[in-house]
Amino acid sequence: MINATTGLCFDDVLLVPKFSDITTRKEINTSSQLSDSYQFRLPVISSPMDTITESAMAAAMENAGGFGIVHRYNTLKAQSLIVKLARDNGCVFVGAAVGVTGDFEERACALYDAGASVLCIDIAHGHHVLMKRALFRLREIFGNNVHIMAGNVATLEGFNDLADWGADSIRVGIGGGSICSTRIQTGHGVPTFQSIDDCSYSDRDVVMVADGGIRNSGDAVKALAAGADFVMMGSLLSGTHETPGEIIINSGERYKTYRGMASKDAQIDWRGKTSSLEGISTVVPCRGPVADVLQDLGRGIRSGLSYSGARTIPELQERARFVIQSSAGRKESDTHILG
Ligand code: XMP
Repeated sequence: MINATTGLCFDDVLLVPKFSDITTRKEINTSSQLSDSYQFRLPVISSPMDTITESAMAAAMENAGGFGIVHRYNTLKAQSLIVKLARDNGCVFVGAAVGVTGDFEERACALYDAGASVLCIDIAHGHHVLMKRALFRLREIFGNNVHIMAGNVATLEGFNDLADWGADSIRVGIGGGSICSTRIQTGHGVPTFQSIDDCSYSDRDVVMVADGGIRNSGDAVKALAAGADFVMMGSLLSGTHETPGEIIINSGERYKTYRGMASKDAQIDWRGKTSSLEGISTVVPCRGPVADVLQDLGRGIRSGLSYSGARTIPELQERARFVIQSSAGRKESDTHILG
């Protein structure tokens, strides 16, 4: 017997335009609060992946109004150096990821000493007893002196548990990322938009970070309107100057690698062996400075708020009304000029 409920994706829904008395987009404020002390102009976070966030990306994210989380797929020393470098590059705010086993306690302390403002407990299935243990342990070590982000979860139960175990912010989304194959490999996951909506019913006072499958500013606006405080992204930032990795030249075109952290290549590189393969590795065209991508994204988000007649993200969340579109509607929503 199955007991299935509906799982809506970003493409299944649209925001209904609302009356607007906003006469210039300058009136719109896209800022979001991570905590009492930290507010960001742009509610965007770069993913802790080894082809997305090291020191250059962290610095560029901060310049554009968001922030970055330095990945954990290297030695404790190398990761701490990246965090220190980001602080040299003038970064005031930088996040750093840790796992839940091995050297995670020692690593968290080294990253904190190196100047990390956020520790992100970064595991694929965050609603897990090892997450509970890691959250309790990091709280024991740091008290409330550091912001702890945790994830990922796909359900309200997971969200509430991580909040109760001590997380300040929670990454929501399992299997929806552009390079994820978790759903194919394991049969598990929830469409990211559905997870955001489900978690938005939480009464816990924690920040929600929508993570995975955000392909454009429209998806970001839908995620924010449905209840996320921030959106995290990999694919949208991939191939930019500030991503780590060599440029690959093929037939005169320039590319960079973008890969899931559970892909075969990534697993072999960081632990010399593979377990369940839940991601893929690919190459993407080089796309210039990330500042340009973030500027477009910021403009799209701003415009999205204006269509809902909202001056701020909380106002967007209050005013948001979604419609579910049919498959014909989805085709109409895409550009469809006749050839
Ligand atoms: P986007 O769509 O922005 O997604 O490229 C980035 C997010 O994907 C997650 N991630 C993975 N998920 N297998 C997965 O199932 C993987 O190998 C993998 N690597 C990253 C992560 O949450 C990231 O922020």
